Amino acid sequence: MISPSHIAIIMDGNGRWGLKKYNDRNKGHYYGLLNINKVIEHCIKIKIKYLTLYTFSTENWNRPKKEIDYLFFLFKFFYKKNFNKLNKNNIKIKFIGDLKNIPKDLKIIIKKIEDKTKNNDAITVIFAFNYGAKSELVNAFKNIIKNKTKVYEINEELINNYLYTNNIPDPDILIRTGGEKRLSNFLLWQLSYAELFFINKNWPDFNFFDLKKVIKAFGVTKRKFGGLNE
Ligand code: FPP
Repeated sequence: MISPSHIAIIMDGNGRWGLKKYNDRNKGHYYGLLNINKVIEHCIKIKIKYLTLYTFSTENWNRPKKEIDYLFFLFKFFYKKNFNKLNKNNIKIKFIGDLKNIPKDLKIIIKKIEDKTKNNDAITVIFAFNYGAKSELVNAFKNIIKNKTKVYEINEELINNYLYTNNIPDPDILIRTGGEKRLSNFLLWQLSYAELFFINKNWPDFNFFDLKKVIKAFGVTKRKFGGLNE
């Protein structure tokens, strides 16, 4: 059995869950946030070293302002309510995405969280916030050119170094809840060889048993990376 070191999750289905249970999409985001805490604990239990969560995409700006404001409120709520516990539990938190174009108060919180948890090592939880894979690549190519990189210097390792995920190993597993089967502009470069799992449950309902099922299925997968054997 092989074990994954990095799991990436598209936490889809919050809106549908909230509408169905409370006639309120935002309630789904609230319970989705509570589920993030549980899933982080499960991942520590099973010794996952990296967990990347898609919390806000560059396309999410197209949602109604009320929903965007609520997601930003939840972000601050998450910080106030959970930060001390996460830090005490030795959890390192990082953010990836276009962090230049987000509200100033969130930028300050992000910097604080990253600074205070940088030496923790139980797990690294990476929040993809205002993240889009295509915009990440555009940003990388711009910086490669700005640094006057020579054509012969360009290779996969160099491109990796210019991505927001620099120094983070590629995910072994992608989980998408909510029943849809698409990548929605998430980690397009980094997921090249990930095993994909699409779960027919909305994110607030995703639990430890679902996670264990994914890990078990991954454990018996033959990963060939384009060759004949691992
Ligand atoms: C997708 O569900 C989920 C999101 C766009 C946001 C994910 C956010 C959280 C889990 C909580 C917030 C956490 C932080 C740290 C801000 P959807 O709304 O697309 O659901 P739908 O497909 O049913 O509409």
